[in-house]
Amino acid sequence: MKILYATSEAGPFIRTGGLGDVSAALPPALVKEGQEVAVILPLYEEIPSSFRNNMEFIGNTTVPLSWRRQYAGLYKYVQQGVSYFFVDNEYYFKRKAIYGHFDDGERFAFFSKAVLELIPLMGFYPNVIHCNDWQTALIPVMLDAFYRKAKGYTNIKTVLAIHNIEFQGRMSSYVIDNVFGLPDEFASIVEYKGDANMLKGGIEAANKVITVSPTYANEILDPYFSYGLEHILHERKYKLQGILNGIDVDLYNPEKDKALFKNYSYKAISNKKANKKGLQKLVGLPVADVPVIGMVGRLAGQKGIDLLTRVLKEILSMEVQLVVLGTGDWKYENALKEAEKQFPTKLNAAITFSADMASKIYAAADMFLMPSKFEPCGLSQMIAMRYGTVPIVRETGGLKDTVEPFNPEKDTGVGFTFKSYDAYDMLDAIRRAVTVYYEQPEKWDIIVKNGMSKDFSWNKSADEYIMMYKNL
Ligand code: GLC
Repeated sequence: MKILYATSEAGPFIRTGGLGDVSAALPPALVKEGQEVAVILPLYEEIPSSFRNNMEFIGNTTVPLSWRRQYAGLYKYVQQGVSYFFVDNEYYFKRKAIYGHFDDGERFAFFSKAVLELIPLMGFYPNVIHCNDWQTALIPVMLDAFYRKAKGYTNIKTVLAIHNIEFQGRMSSYVIDNVFGLPDEFASIVEYKGDANMLKGGIEAANKVITVSPTYANEILDPYFSYGLEHILHERKYKLQGILNGIDVDLYNPEKDKALFKNYSYKAISNKKANKKGLQKLVGLPVADVPVIGMVGRLAGQKGIDLLTRVLKEILSMEVQLVVLGTGDWKYENALKEAEKQFPTKLNAAITFSADMASKIYAAADMFLMPSKFEPCGLSQMIAMRYGTVPIVRETGGLKDTVEPFNPEKDTGVGFTFKSYDAYDMLDAIRRAVTVYYEQPEKWDIIVKNGMSKDFSWNKSADEYIMMYKNL
C-alpha cells in the first residue's frame, strides 16, 4: 500500500510536541512492515540547514486558494526508507514559530490544498492519505470538493488522526468561501455552530477518524472531553477508532541514551542510582536517597498542573524531592518558581525545555507524575516506564490504557493511579507510592521491572494501522 502522511510537524526536522514524535516514528515503522510511505510537511524557516542543504528540489506549481494563486515548491529528503516532501512557500512559512500566527487558518488551508495539488509532482499516488489534527483536516474535504474526478485521485481513502480535540482550527465562517474557496454545497461540512471549524470538516469527510488511544476514542463522545464536538462524533461513531501510540524505543533507551550520567538496563538496574545522584548535584538538591518525583511537559491546564500547585505543600511535607521541567502558562510558571524559593531543598523547577534535561529526569526519578485532566495518549509515561521510573497518573485517555495499577496481591501492574480530577485523590496516589517505596522496597523493584519489561515499540500499533488502512 502507498500511504501519504500529511502533518504540520515531524521530528527530527521540526517538532513542538507529541505530534512531532508520532510523525517521526510511525512512518518508518510502517515502512518496516513493507508499506510505501511518504510524509509531507511545510518547509518552515526553523528546519535546520543541515537538512535543508541536503534536500532535492523536485519542482513547483501554483495552488489555487479561493481567489488567490500561490506558489508551492516541492523538496524531497529520504531517510529510513521514508520519502519526506517539503512544501515551500516563503510568504506562509518563512516566519519565526510554526504556530500562533493571525492567519494560521489560511496557512494550513494552503498547505492542505498544496498536498493534493502536488501529488502528480511527487509521483506518489497514494491509496490512503493519513491526516493529523486540524492543520491537515481540510484535506479530505478538499479532495472531495476539487480533486475526486481527476485521474489517480478517484479511489484515494482518507484517515484523520486526532491527537488533541481541544484544537480545532475554528474561525469566522467567512473563510469558507474567501480562504478555503469551498463551493456552497460543501459549506455545511466545515461549518459548525456558526463558525468555520476545520477539524469538524475533517471528521465529516474522512473515511476513518482515529484517536491515539482507545480510551480517548470513547471519552471524546462525552462533552467533558469533546470541546463541543460530541454530537458530530456520535453521528460519526461508526468510523471512530482508537489506536494506541508507541514510542521510539531506540531513541528512548536507557542503555544508550547519551544524556544520562550512567547508562543502565533491566539487567543492570542498580546503575540507575548514579543518575539520581547526578541530577541532585546538577540542580542543587541534597544528595539523598529519598524518592525523586519527576514531571516533564507543558505547564498547561490539560496536564493537571493546577492539582499539583493545589497540594504542593502537602507533597513536599513528605520525605521526597520534586523536579519539574517545562514551560507554559505564566501562572503555573510563577507558582512553581515561588514554591521553589520556599522549599529550596525539596523542589527544583526548571522553566525551560531541553531534551537533554528531560532524559536526565526520566533516568534519575523514581516516580513520574502525570495528573492530566485529559490525555489523548501521552508519551512521557511510556518513556518513564522504559527508564524504570514508576508513573503516577490519572486514569484518563492513554494514561489509563498504558498504566495498569499495581496489585500487591498478584504483583502485577506498573504504576499508581487515581480516578477523579481531584488534588487530594492525586495526593493519596502519591502517598501510596511513597509508602511502598519506603516500606516495601522488594515490591517497589517488582513494579519498576514490570514497567521496564513492557513493549511500547511501534510494531504493534503499526500493524493495527495497516489493518485499518486495508479495511478501507
Ligand atoms: C498530543 C496529546 C498527547 C499525545 C500526542 C501524540 O500532544 O496531547 O496525549 O500523546 O498528541 O499523539
